[in-house]
Amino acid sequence: MHRRRDLGGLIFIDMRDRDGLVQLSFDPRWTSLEVMRRAAGVGVESVVLVEGEVALRPESARDTSMSTREIEVHVTGFTVAGPADTPPIPVARKENEALPAEELRLRHRVLDLRRPELQANLVLRHRLLQRARQTLTDLEFLEIETPILTKPTPEGARDYLVPSRIHRGEFYALPQSPQIYKQLLMVAGYDRYFQLARCFRDEDLRADRQPEFTQIDLEASFVSAEDVQLVVERVLVDLWHVADVRVPHPFPRLAFQEAMEKYGIDKPDLRYDLEIRDLTPLVGADSAPFVHEEVATGGRLRGIVTPGGAALTRKALDGLAALARDARAGGLIWARRTAEGWEGQGVKAVGATSLDALGGQAGDLLVAVVGADAVTSPALHLLRGELIRLAALPQRRAHAFCWIVDFPLFEQDPASGDYLPAHHPFTAPHPDDIGRLASDPGSCRALHYDAVYNGNELGSGSIRITDPETQRHIFGLLGIPDRDIRRRFGFLLDGLAAGAPPHGGFALGFDRIAMLLAGAPSLRDVIAFPKTTAARALFEGAPTPVNPADLTALHLAVRSDD
Ligand code: AMO
Repeated sequence: MHRRRDLGGLIFIDMRDRDGLVQLSFDPRWTSLEVMRRAAGVGVESVVLVEGEVALRPESARDTSMSTREIEVHVTGFTVAGPADTPPIPVARKENEALPAEELRLRHRVLDLRRPELQANLVLRHRLLQRARQTLTDLEFLEIETPILTKPTPEGARDYLVPSRIHRGEFYALPQSPQIYKQLLMVAGYDRYFQLARCFRDEDLRADRQPEFTQIDLEASFVSAEDVQLVVERVLVDLWHVADVRVPHPFPRLAFQEAMEKYGIDKPDLRYDLEIRDLTPLVGADSAPFVHEEVATGGRLRGIVTPGGAALTRKALDGLAALARDARAGGLIWARRTAEGWEGQGVKAVGATSLDALGGQAGDLLVAVVGADAVTSPALHLLRGELIRLAALPQRRAHAFCWIVDFPLFEQDPASGDYLPAHHPFTAPHPDDIGRLASDPGSCRALHYDAVYNGNELGSGSIRITDPETQRHIFGLLGIPDRDIRRRFGFLLDGLAAGAPPHGGFALGFDRIAMLLAGAPSLRDVIAFPKTTAARALFEGAPTPVNPADLTALHLAVRSDD
């Protein structure tokens, strides 16, 4: 029962199921007194069974915009199957009535899930899952399930561990991804695999991350990076089609370096054309000393020229300066282009002659920062986003997909200098760079590619290492001692030694895709029972302490001192 109206001798009740609303009409002309009485005391959100005749509504009350609004039910029989307590959060809301706080809604998730918006999201999620399954099945991929109780599979997060009762002191790990298993399936001859795979990662959570989530995970043998990308494009085009969007493809490809140079990030939002420019070649005699100092120590002067940006207020510019400062990029340099030329504090910093050489058109705004790329790129990415918003730049396209390719094989920990895998340790080095693997690993690219949509990373994949020696070498570069390599990854190395076909694959973040296609602000809006950003399940109440007896059976004790 969604909503009720009692009008003296008449009662109208809106009934709701997952398809929508229909009105019940209780009227002495067709409803007995006994049934009237039973309906009078029933609260909203109760589950009721109704008998009656489906009839056209009176002409004046007919709403032809919705088929269930053209009709009503003349009630003759009425039973309360599941009476409801007074709901702590409303399901039926008035137009423009704000939602209750999310924490409250998560605590009462069963009621919140009755909300038509969430029902529509979960129906969409279902349709997307079925579409992905069908597309990959059509492409002759086999759906194969891999274990949940397993060994650690490194994807850069901490593992969720499950203690073994039977084997004292030993633990299973929940998979961060099915990565190693899907590679072993390739070795085992199942040359096209997919799975709608649950993954578990114990990491600091953000709005677009959950501790458990679903991937559309796939792997294929005898493929190039482009072959894998074609398959993923087909899946994405089909998924967007479910949401009635025709996606132009093939998607453009952008090298990692180019993305960082033009957009300051490896997941650029290509709906907008605005690009970062290198202004270092303009630095000259009348540029300020601090600019020369940065350039002399390897820094660059990079900036963004925003058409129409000159109209931004001083307050907006202060906001941009704060953004640059928070991103540790130092002071923001800015200048406005008028009909006469450039003006603003940036003229002094960059130099009048240099700015003249930049050209530009009246109405342009230049914002720039100077320093090492590692600092200026993230800052310029943030500035670009804010400039697009503030100057209300037009979208060139509503759905901007792209591939980012040629990622570096390693990232270096800025503090320790240690190498970390940029993707995961199973990614093959780029064949053109493999000669430098021993001498200069930091400069090697990988056969690693990401799918990006409107500034969101949808998924990642790579061609894998199939030679056990190369795989051992990479583990070594990552600082994993020999005995640990055997213990942690022996089963992979043994698998590869059994004769491995060349293979590669991909994983799409399915929850993220469902969120974007549902137009939802959070992953929690497309997951039936999600966790909070503090990794708590508020409805069921997890995690929880366990009985001491259960801990003992698992050979565990909880220390109280940390
Ligand atoms: P990766 O770790 O990049 O690759 O994950 C692939 C995609 O999964 C999604 N994702 C998440 N979604 C919600 N919550 C999270 N905590 C979360 N973490 C990741 C992202 C991401 O792009 N085994 C490799 C794939 C491969 O090489 O085939 C892997 O898991 O959308």
